[in-house]
Amino acid sequence: MGHGIGQVFARAGHSVVLTDPNEAVLNVALEKVASNIRFEGSDPERVICNMSTCVDLQRAVRSADLVIEAAPEKLELKQHLFAQVAAAAPTHAVLASNTSVIPITRIGERLDEQARRRLVGTHWWNPPHLIPLVEVVRTVHTSEEVFEQTFAWLQAAGKCPVRVQQDVTGFIGNRLQHALWREAIALIADGVCDAESIDLVVKNSFGMRMPVLGPMENADLVGLELTQDVHRVMFPDLKCDKNPSPLLGQLIAQGHTGMKAGQGLRSWSLAQAQEVHTRLAAHLIRMTQPSPDSPKS
Ligand SMILES: NC(=O)c1ccc[n+]([C@@H]2O[C@H](COP(=O)([O-])OP(=O)(O)OC[C@H]3O[C@@H](n4cnc5c(N)ncnc54)[C@H](O)[C@@H]3O)[C@@H](O)[C@H]2O)c1
Repeated sequence: MGHGIGQVFARAGHSVVLTDPNEAVLNVALEKVASNIRFEGSDPERVICNMSTCVDLQRAVRSADLVIEAAPEKLELKQHLFAQVAAAAPTHAVLASNTSVIPITRIGERLDEQARRRLVGTHWWNPPHLIPLVEVVRTVHTSEEVFEQTFAWLQAAGKCPVRVQQDVTGFIGNRLQHALWREAIALIADGVCDAESIDLVVKNSFGMRMPVLGPMENADLVGLELTQDVHRVMFPDLKCDKNPSPLLGQLIAQGHTGMKAGQGLRSWSLAQAQEVHTRLAAHLIRMTQPSPDSPKS
């Protein structure tokens, strides 16, 4: 995620330093960015000239206005990293975490009050240079100025930032996404349909509308009376399990962990898995080309 996030700010003309304790990662990071840009049919030079790498964390952040952490999803590691960054970065620098699920408040537990005011969540989506959304998450400590400045920087860099006013688990997007996955996996486990049917249903029905009609627009379109009637009938039957489905545990125990293993909820040949990645990237590039029905509004 880190090099893709850096790519977005470098494309917007900012000077970006990528840092990582693993030099091998840094050695290929700029080539990965160049390859992303070539895939879009553009010349990487204009972007790459704004980027550099530095293995030394203190040196990398010492003149930063914004530091975005995209290290492994481990609380201890992130807490330690932010303590180091807060000590090394300028005292005005905004400190942002790209955590997917860890509450931002917990990540800031080792910081003093001044640094906590500058800590914010910026939850990007993969691949970060193509997916427009960034959820900007505030804690009870985050200052209004830091929250709004982060939002403004992301908007100016061409992203679609959204304000998340409370530090809730999973923020907005992952709460919505995993509520759907919980129901989908339960339908398979209960024998209502197979995994392929779930994907066919979503891709050939409400999934087609979503780029132009978000769920709240859709609720207003069908009308709130109908929405209320539907919820009265369905909600008693929808899943509200507090734990992951036992089906996931069974598949994992059999080594069926997903695309990389050739089998997960569905079966995958290597060629099919590669084709999905290429098709997805090409689709996202098409979706993000400016057009009158851009999904950002
Ligand atoms: N991959 C996704 O789809 C996705 C999407 C949204 C958010 N995120 C979040 O972004 C973060 C990074 O995810 P990723 O998929 O890019 O992980 P990754 O494992 O690909 O990259 C993490 C990088 O952090 C480096 N690292 C390890 N220890 C470090 C340390 N002490 N200091 C600094 N860097 C260190 C690693 O060398 C590695 O290059 C995680 O918090 C993840 O939850 C990931």
